[in-house]
Amino acid sequence: MPDTTTQRLLRGKVITLDGPAGSGKSTTARLLAKRLEFEYLDTGATYRAVALLAKRMNVSLDDDRQVDEMLGHFSLHFVAGSDRNRVILNDEDVTADIRTGEIDRLVSPVAAHQGIRRFLAAWQRERAAEGSVVLEGRDTGTVVCPNADVKIYLDASLDTRARRRQLDFQRTGQTVSVEEIKNDIIRRDKADTERAHGPLKPADDAIFVDTSGLTIDEQVEKVYQVCLTRLTGTGANR
Ligand code: DC
Repeated sequence: MPDTTTQRLLRGKVITLDGPAGSGKSTTARLLAKRLEFEYLDTGATYRAVALLAKRMNVSLDDDRQVDEMLGHFSLHFVAGSDRNRVILNDEDVTADIRTGEIDRLVSPVAAHQGIRRFLAAWQRERAAEGSVVLEGRDTGTVVCPNADVKIYLDASLDTRARRRQLDFQRTGQTVSVEEIKNDIIRRDKADTERAHGPLKPADDAIFVDTSGLTIDEQVEKVYQVCLTRLTGTGANR
């Protein structure tokens, strides 16, 4: 926990954490927010929740009227938990439902949909308005909060990313091969970097942190120090 002077300097600041799947951004963002005593906003979960809603409502993404009607039924909030934040969609806990292989596949076209992106970016911006928040997700530093105080871009090798994703699956009782995961990561990276609206790309002023070979504790420490240096000039990592 930061000391009182540092806490005062940090108050109201906005930090964005972007990076591709498996770069460790979710865990890092959650633990960083906890350490700074900031809110944590997982923007990927908002896209996943819309993908789940679209599946359940059998929405065709090509039909604007259906998409608008679905977004009118979108009510989401997060409940802080000791491990992962709970995701509540329309009063139902969908934390596990949005992290299946099926939603991994359904979420790319949802994230490529201009109307949905505009809706979710506005939703996220509204929640970040009060500051003292860590926003995690692909376009948080470029589109959602381009004026953020610190922008971090995490990356890691394909092997590292695939192994981390496999552990995520194992934790939820799903068995998926590393090869299958690698192919899915390559496919998603391609879809995410090449899409016309809100493509995955680091902000010009983002600070790159390579997380290959770092434990999660080392990774959080590194990002924490980078943030302190940027925001207060007192971090160890100048
Ligand atoms: O980070 P994640 O795997 O939970 O993200 C789910 C999907 O949503 C992924 O395909 C990227 C997309 N996404 C996005 O386009 N913009 C964001 N700000 C966050 C996630």
